[in-house]
Amino acid sequence: MIKEKWWKKSVVYQIYPRSFCDSNGDGIGDINGIRSKLWYLKELGIDIIWLSPVYSSPNADNGYDISDYCGISPEYGTMDEMKALIDECENCGIKIMMDLVVNHTSDEHPWFIEAKQSKDNPYREYYIWRKGEKGNPPNQLESCFGGSAWEYSEETKEYYLHFFHKKQPDLNWENQAVRKEVWKIMNYWIDMGIGGFRMDVIDMIGKVPDKEIKENGPRLHEYLQEMNRETFGEKNLVTVGECWGADIEKGRLYSDPERKELDMIFQFEQMLLDQVPGKSKWDLKPLELKQLKQVFAKWQDALEGKGWNSLFWNNHDLPRIVSRWGNDKEYRVESAKMLATILHGMKGTPYIYQGEEIGMTNCPLLSVEDLADVESRNMYYERKQMGYKEEDIMNSISTKARDNARTPMQWNDGYEAGFTEGTPWYRVNPNYMEINAKKALEDKDSIFYYYKELIYLRKKEPILIYGNFKLLYPEDKSVFAYIREWDYKKWLIVCNFYGNPTDFMYPAKGQVILSNYKQEPVILLENISLRPYEAIICELIET
Ligand code: NOJ
Repeated sequence: MIKEKWWKKSVVYQIYPRSFCDSNGDGIGDINGIRSKLWYLKELGIDIIWLSPVYSSPNADNGYDISDYCGISPEYGTMDEMKALIDECENCGIKIMMDLVVNHTSDEHPWFIEAKQSKDNPYREYYIWRKGEKGNPPNQLESCFGGSAWEYSEETKEYYLHFFHKKQPDLNWENQAVRKEVWKIMNYWIDMGIGGFRMDVIDMIGKVPDKEIKENGPRLHEYLQEMNRETFGEKNLVTVGECWGADIEKGRLYSDPERKELDMIFQFEQMLLDQVPGKSKWDLKPLELKQLKQVFAKWQDALEGKGWNSLFWNNHDLPRIVSRWGNDKEYRVESAKMLATILHGMKGTPYIYQGEEIGMTNCPLLSVEDLADVESRNMYYERKQMGYKEEDIMNSISTKARDNARTPMQWNDGYEAGFTEGTPWYRVNPNYMEINAKKALEDKDSIFYYYKELIYLRKKEPILIYGNFKLLYPEDKSVFAYIREWDYKKWLIVCNFYGNPTDFMYPAKGQVILSNYKQEPVILLENISLRPYEAIICELIET
């Protein structure tokens, strides 16, 4: 038997530190706040924390604009507290996955401060500079946050590239000195005892701006192989790359172990299914379940034996899944459990985003004043100027804005949901009296305990980790069902994706392993009527 990688059995929990738990009353979540909640994560049973950035940052993009990769932002705490967090996690059997944001730095990073001074500054080539075209930017490249990707810099009368905010200048990865700096930073954190890296927009590091190539540039995989060799390759860490532009062929390139790049990637194909093809995420279209099943099944098949999937519904950039594709009103609990079942039943490493395990929902975003995020604010003003109706803009925003995921964690029904004793940096979702961790922990039927059970099953049942995946009834418009098979065992995972009852049949009996409704221990699957959002995991007993 090949020695399997430890992270194949792991479940990751993402912490967005700003909104997780504030220990000192300044309204901003911090490292000591995280330390105070390790018992909660231990209770849930997760193995890895993906920690969104806690480095020094002017916060143009909530920490994804870094001014010192080896320093902790004072609003989050100190390096000693960070070290204590790593140690305490280790005592709980939890590893920390750091967020590596090296496609760009902050414009307040010392490298950029130097680079912009003069054309012959030794740091100049750390970034990407071009002359303008008759008073305009060098080409049509656009920033992911709207507007041109080029910003004019007075000092040297040239433009620099920024695929995100203008305070996030892109690094020039073609420059070997840049790559060496990145390896140094990674090794610094590896030596501190972290367990891995989540790599921010890593598919952009091979960009070729003059050919307007943003993602998947020609040297991307060469850089990743160099990174693997120079840093984590022999260290038994876990690595995941954020790759919005990946299709299955590219997915294999990144995560085929023989290529020695990354362990897995976040691909987002399923997350684009409720937007008008070819348009932006703000151009809404209803999700078609058939497409969702097809995309998941495609990735499950494509990486079978050739890579590894990451499984996620949520992160700090996505709206809350129970509001997006579940029902955040009368069937909030049932639909949150159903969505969890679909995801955790598949092959790959599951990721849970803070609050998902208690069924936190999108928050009311009624006007531009309710928005904190640079992306949604930019979009609002841009579309206003283009003549869009206020109502349509706000509809897109309340459905898709990243602000939805960034409201403070709802710990209890007390002052500011127990997140802070001060004034929170961003408002608490008004439904915290109803939805909070304390309440979830007191109710054995809560979403929390359902997630806990799914995590536990993954530890106990190799079929969930190694079993083959086979989609059933791809054409069915209401049911998401599939089989996992391993070592003479067969499991059926069947979920009613909607709020209307629907029929389902499979020629077998099933011994129920987990469900979001009360079930008999053995059920006949030949002809069943699934209740709203009903989800069942059962072991098949052939008849
Ligand atoms: C992806 C991150 O997840 C997102 O929050 C950030 O705005 C961009 N990358 C830029 O770093």
